[in-house]
Amino acid sequence: MCGIVGYIGFKDAKEILLNGLEKLEYRGYDSAGIAIRNEKDVHVFKEKGRIADLRKIVDTHINAATGIGHTRWATHGVPSTENAHPHQSLSGRFTLVHNGVIENYEQLKKEYLLDVPLKSDTDTEVIVQLIEIFVNEGLDTEAAFRKTLHLLKGSYALGLLDKEKAETIFVAKNKSPLLIGLGNGFNVIASDAMAMIQVTDQFVELMDKEMVIVTKEKVTIKSLNDEEIERAPYTAELDAGDIEKGTYPHYMLKEIDEQPLVMRKIIQAYQNDQGKLTVDENIVQALQEADRLYIVACGTSYHAGLVGKQYLETIAKIPTEVHVASEFVYNMPLLSEKPLFVFISQSGETADSRAVLVKVKELGYQALTITNVQGSTLSREADYTLLLHAGPEIAVASTKAYTAQISVLSILANATAETRGIKPEFDLIHELGIVANAMEVLCDTKDEFEQIARDYLSTTRNCFFIGRSIDYYVGLEGALKLKEISYIQAEGFAGGELKHGTIALIEEGTPVIALATQENVNLSIRGNVKEVTARGANPCIISMKGLESEDDRFVIPAVHELFTPLVAVIPTQLIAYYAALHRDCDVDKPRNLAKSVTVE
Ligand code: F6R
Repeated sequence: MCGIVGYIGFKDAKEILLNGLEKLEYRGYDSAGIAIRNEKDVHVFKEKGRIADLRKIVDTHINAATGIGHTRWATHGVPSTENAHPHQSLSGRFTLVHNGVIENYEQLKKEYLLDVPLKSDTDTEVIVQLIEIFVNEGLDTEAAFRKTLHLLKGSYALGLLDKEKAETIFVAKNKSPLLIGLGNGFNVIASDAMAMIQVTDQFVELMDKEMVIVTKEKVTIKSLNDEEIERAPYTAELDAGDIEKGTYPHYMLKEIDEQPLVMRKIIQAYQNDQGKLTVDENIVQALQEADRLYIVACGTSYHAGLVGKQYLETIAKIPTEVHVASEFVYNMPLLSEKPLFVFISQSGETADSRAVLVKVKELGYQALTITNVQGSTLSREADYTLLLHAGPEIAVASTKAYTAQISVLSILANATAETRGIKPEFDLIHELGIVANAMEVLCDTKDEFEQIARDYLSTTRNCFFIGRSIDYYVGLEGALKLKEISYIQAEGFAGGELKHGTIALIEEGTPVIALATQENVNLSIRGNVKEVTARGANPCIISMKGLESEDDRFVIPAVHELFTPLVAVIPTQLIAYYAALHRDCDVDKPRNLAKSVTVE
């Protein structure tokens, strides 16, 4: 949520900053800005809207080799030019970009800034005004920055320019992600390596409560107690091609299409030299020793967790609960004696999940993070990590990460079962291979799903997804995908639950997408379809080969019944994609959302 970049070196900073911000737009896109510093002055350009809008107002004649930039997802103050970053201090000497939330900003305002006329409604402006106040009281910039950081409660990734210290960007981090990129004769800062991979692949991670003095030649990391910290850089394994759309009109479509390939990459990544799927033995050991697993996640990752619970209980026979992170931290269930926490997070940065991780670590419990981003906060702070190997997911609506999460959970369950001496009833590599092939067939059948979107969703106000058993979980995910990108009111329901109230919403023509991939509930879900049809609904049954009936709108290729979510979700992703397209919605950047949700 919100992305920041910075460059200090010898090239034209504005292009590097704007290109970097375009790569970070997934983190927020309601307004954006850059500040560039040349020998004469600091020039600030800010605009409501997208980076493309910002580009139009940046003065191309100004050349500067230092700058910072920001793309915003509003928390404090509406999206507007005034509230867009960078923010400047009263005299204009200091210029700041910020990702995060300062929880005590009102209190700081009252205590220190009663005489300072603020120009925005943001929490960020408080930081930059405080720095100036402390400098006016006699501190140098670094000391004033440090003093301010000591006062802040909340999360921040900060980039600060001082008009009188042209050769430095001051940087700090707490809870919000931030990396320093190293170059030859230049250095950069970025919320995500993706933003700067075009200029360097050498990055240094920052830990919470660290500040950094960045010049074009040197990067000095310090604790807030002014002790220097040595940290070696790492090479970001990101292919610049992975973050381009290529010939696709949208990242979402590209990422849907990548799912068969991701599935094969996961199989490869978890296969040992003997061709067996394995997981780090310490992780399996931790699962073995636990008497109960607590999966914690948000949104799509939570939906993957629901499927994962089935695998961990059915395949590995370990009792498992799944919890929404934002609820768990304030409403904790009675825990078992030896719990193991499993965090599922594509980004590894989700603040709601992190709040739970911090709490369970305080309580002394072990945690495993399943994430797409190596070195992300949730990965660093948990005891163990399993990677998704899905490649960067850029569209705000998660697709390939969901199927990758489910696949990795199946591998984890399978490996744990084997170690526990439970003989799996199937060869997982073989089954996942069948899934990859089925995914390919579905990705090649886009026309069908475009037609379904046209027939059912062109003008509708709402839509229901129903399923039973594991199909119910896929219905939840299908509904989330549809509502987040097409803005159609969509809800997922357990087929049997509708008649307990929700069926009152069924009217003439209400679309009901029913998933029927499970033999043991095939008749009952079809019964539920009859109930809604009798009340005027327009049913669209998506079933699986072997269970089909003549009324079905689409039949997906047969896969093992445990792994149907991996394939049944693809029609729902594509239907959502085309529905959004037909309704002229911004598929990759839906309104009000951002990809990496780093505020609680
Ligand atoms: C929906 C979506 C979100 C995320 C959720 C958690 O398409 O992407 O619901 O799944 O915000 O994000 P991560 O997985 O990064 O923790």
